[in-house]
Amino acid sequence: MKGLILSGGKGTRLYPLTYTRAKQLIPVANKPILFRVIEAIRDAGITDIGIVVGDTAEEIKATVGRGNRWGVRITYIHQPQPLGLAHAVKVSRDYLGDEPFVMFLGDNVIQGGITELVRQFQESDWNAQIVLTRVDHPEQYGVAVLNGEGRVVRLIEKPKEPPSDLALVGIYMFDHHIHQAVDEIQPSWRGELEITDAIQWLVEHDYKVFPYIHRGWWIDTGKPGDMLEANSMVLQELTPVIEGFVDRDSEVDCRVTVEKGAEIINSVVRGPTIIGERSRIVNSYIGPFTSIYHDVVVENSEIERSIVLENSVIRDLPARLQDSLIGRNVVLTRSPMKPKAFKMNLGDYSQVGVL
Ligand code: TTP
Repeated sequence: MKGLILSGGKGTRLYPLTYTRAKQLIPVANKPILFRVIEAIRDAGITDIGIVVGDTAEEIKATVGRGNRWGVRITYIHQPQPLGLAHAVKVSRDYLGDEPFVMFLGDNVIQGGITELVRQFQESDWNAQIVLTRVDHPEQYGVAVLNGEGRVVRLIEKPKEPPSDLALVGIYMFDHHIHQAVDEIQPSWRGELEITDAIQWLVEHDYKVFPYIHRGWWIDTGKPGDMLEANSMVLQELTPVIEGFVDRDSEVDCRVTVEKGAEIINSVVRGPTIIGERSRIVNSYIGPFTSIYHDVVVENSEIERSIVLENSVIRDLPARLQDSLIGRNVVLTRSPMKPKAFKMNLGDYSQVGVL
């Protein structure tokens, strides 16, 4: 069995962060999402993993490497354009051969891993198994309809009147019949080869498509709010450890992780929160559900439920920074210069909410 991680795409909903960084490499709880996906596949006993890459191929290859650190063998598969999830399967044809595989979207975070799913599929004679989860607003998702025997009989993209509340999570098990399916289908109205159409093709040709109902949380990190939500969820599951320095004047609760070389000086840090390697928190408050990545400086400021990426500096903020996603090498300070005004140098598609 092989693993296939989809890590191409454009990540437009996360502009401007994704102008300069692959979405899948954005960390939640200080670990890139893609690393979490690789670990989930490895933990299910799969060591041959293909990663589909597009425009951000070089960054992904440089960050992930050949997989030695996880004890897996990684092969990169180039997708010239992000023409859809089924197109990603098409370009992976040679790599996959006729082996069954698990396909995992490289920007999805799921509680509890996929070991049980992979085991079920291996023990079955099914041609495909799709992970589903119950959602409150099925009209916003791809939805599956099951028959009385629990078999998938229909898939519908964003139905106006949803016939079920079972949404497709971005994890799928396939045998080699999927290759014929992706060859037979036509691009959708948005010009993409849709994986839901390929699965529907399997259903219509009487192949056995069964569900796997996932009961924990699952987050598709397409938008900034989803990223913060995934960060909060993962932080709650982290086992806290203090490896950095906390001075006597600071108050750090038992759900906080302080990584090596980090320093907390005269500050209050409330967990679940993680402070990355070599970061300095001085005269500040860091509230719950916050991830500060490595080499960040926070001084005389308050931050809550946010992600701050590496090498950024946050200093002397007049109000609390909350529900925010701050990129790399960002400088966010109170300006001493007159006139008193907001002075900003923002990338395209930035979103800022001021007091
Ligand atoms: P999406 O979130 O559907 O697409 P995207 O990443 O391009 O984002 P946006 O809609 O904001 O522009 O993609 C889900 C995952 O699949 C993501 O990890 C990227 C990957 N992907 C591919 O590898 N190839 C593709 O052709 C597409 C559409 C997505």
